Amino acid sequence: MRGVVLISGSGSNLQSIIDNADNIDLTISCVISNKADAYGLERAKQAGIPQHIIEHTEFSSREEFDQALSETIDQYSPNIVILAGFMRILTSEFTQKYCGKMLNIHPSLLPKFQGLNTHQRVIEAGESEHGVSIHFVTEELDGGPVIAQSNIPVLEDEDVKSLAARVLVEEHKLYPKVIHWFTQGRLKLDNGNAILDGEIL
Ligand code: GRF
Repeated sequence: MRGVVLISGSGSNLQSIIDNADNIDLTISCVISNKADAYGLERAKQAGIPQHIIEHTEFSSREEFDQALSETIDQYSPNIVILAGFMRILTSEFTQKYCGKMLNIHPSLLPKFQGLNTHQRVIEAGESEHGVSIHFVTEELDGGPVIAQSNIPVLEDEDVKSLAARVLVEEHKLYPKVIHWFTQGRLKLDNGNAILDGEIL
């Protein structure tokens, strides 16, 4: 299957997808970043994957940015659109267009801690558990049906950096696994439900 990966930053999840691409039957057709200095672009270059920079600051509205993004994505006719640390709120027009074929990774146990700064907020809330969620993207920010989660305990005296690093380890394992379910045709979005092997998740 062909996939397009959208990033904004370091791209460590992109790297884990690149490293697993053969095993998960994924051809990464291109990487798109909304930031020119995203380190993930260097990773794409090293892997010989075409890349596009579409800076949101060059557009006067969210709609125009999403339109340009969509035009670039569609040049590759991907089967799957993978958000991997892509830090933009998408218009409902965009999310509807790719509904059922766009996945996102979010560093919290959704529905808890939607939005930004999740690790900090988890520590401040005194949570004993944290983790990562992968979900289908719908109009609601970080609100689409959850496909899979991985939990880790929050350790005593944990700081944001160490917690984020431990969550990232889980992210790198979970995202390729979930993408593989999709490329195998086992994972679908049906009537607002994430379905794996015919069962609602
Ligand atoms: C990850 O924690 C991801 O869950 C979140 O942004 C971070 C991106 O990290 N959406 P990277 O760019 O993949 O290294």
